Amino acid sequence: MAEVTIKASEDGPFLVKGPVKLVDADGNEYDTAGRPVLELCRCGGSATKPFCDSTHRGIGFVAAERAGGRGVQGRVA
Ligand code: FES
Repeated sequence: MAEVTIKASEDGPFLVKGPVKLVDADGNEYDTAGRPVLELCRCGGSATKPFCDSTHRGIGFVAAERAGGRGVQGRVA
């Protein structure tokens, strides 16, 4: 089985590499043909969600999270 990697880019989208099926809330599959790496928006600003359209650059999106807990956002103390 091929490996799937999801990488959080620096202040940008999640980069998904590997054999995945991307579906919407109704279970409909997105056409990902021709996209060897899926760039999924995590800033919330993309006009082409779930895909990144580079809006994150213009709105100053900062994603400080890191594996291991340093700077993790969204945690409840
Ligand atoms: S992460 Fe790129 S537009 Fe949201």
